[in-house]
Amino acid sequence: MRDPTKDTHDRPAPDETAPDDATIEEAAQGETGPIISALTSMLACNDLPDPAPSDPMPLLLAWYEDARKSERYEDFNAMTLATATPGGLPSARIVLCKAIEPETPALVFYTSYTSRKGEELESNPHAAAVFHWPHARRQARIEGRVRRTTPEESDAYFKTRPLLSRIGAAASRQSAAIGSRQDLIAEAVRTARRTLTGQELKRPDNWGGYRIVPDRVELWSARTGRLHDRVLWTRSGEGNWTARRLSA
Ligand SMILES: Cc1cc2nc3c(=O)[nH]c(=O)nc-3n(C[C@H](O)[C@H](O)[C@H](O)COP(=O)(O)O)c2cc1C
Repeated sequence: MRDPTKDTHDRPAPDETAPDDATIEEAAQGETGPIISALTSMLACNDLPDPAPSDPMPLLLAWYEDARKSERYEDFNAMTLATATPGGLPSARIVLCKAIEPETPALVFYTSYTSRKGEELESNPHAAAVFHWPHARRQARIEGRVRRTTPEESDAYFKTRPLLSRIGAAASRQSAAIGSRQDLIAEAVRTARRTLTGQELKRPDNWGGYRIVPDRVELWSARTGRLHDRVLWTRSGEGNWTARRLSA
């Protein structure tokens, strides 16, 4: 059974050669040598290259692809998306990141423009997003301005959605109060009937994508002894990225 006093990120990182806590404590017996060699062995790990690459986006995409290929997640692309009112009151929820575009650069997700998050983004076009990929003990944080995808892009993505998801998107006014769940299902049934009698199921005008165009990206990799490795990239406007290593 897991030791409840230890968090997963207390454990040695999987790609580090440092021995675990018990081995270090036994070997140390009041000597600093084993601890110093355990600590310095951490430098051999280069999950986050040192020096850091000048552009974080290819590395972020590589981490995203690694999570996909690991086949460890039902939703490897789930990210927490934080938005805020113009007055600065925050809210957060999970959405699926459908694409990472290193060239733009941008992260793309789809939602309802009239949902709570949509209304916040329309009035305050800034967002923060966080991925957590436990299989590799990585976290990625992204912040930036948000803009809508083009209607053509939203149409193209909408067409790839399974039929029931398209019916759901057309029938639901996401985040609006409803009288009962029965009302929502009844609306979905009406939408399905219209669709099945030959009417085209078009993308609702209030449903589409957003691009987060990042001006801040932080990649975090768990390391032994809570000496986690962090690199923060910032840029202003469309300028070049500046990378800084941060203390754990
Ligand atoms: C794994 C997971 C994936 C989700 N993906 C999306 C998504 O891609 N787009 C979306 O609008 N909501 C998605 N949701 C639902 C949102 O978390 C949220 O309930 C919904 O968007 C309404 O949020 P809002 O009222 O803050 O606008 C997802 C939820 C989960 C748990």
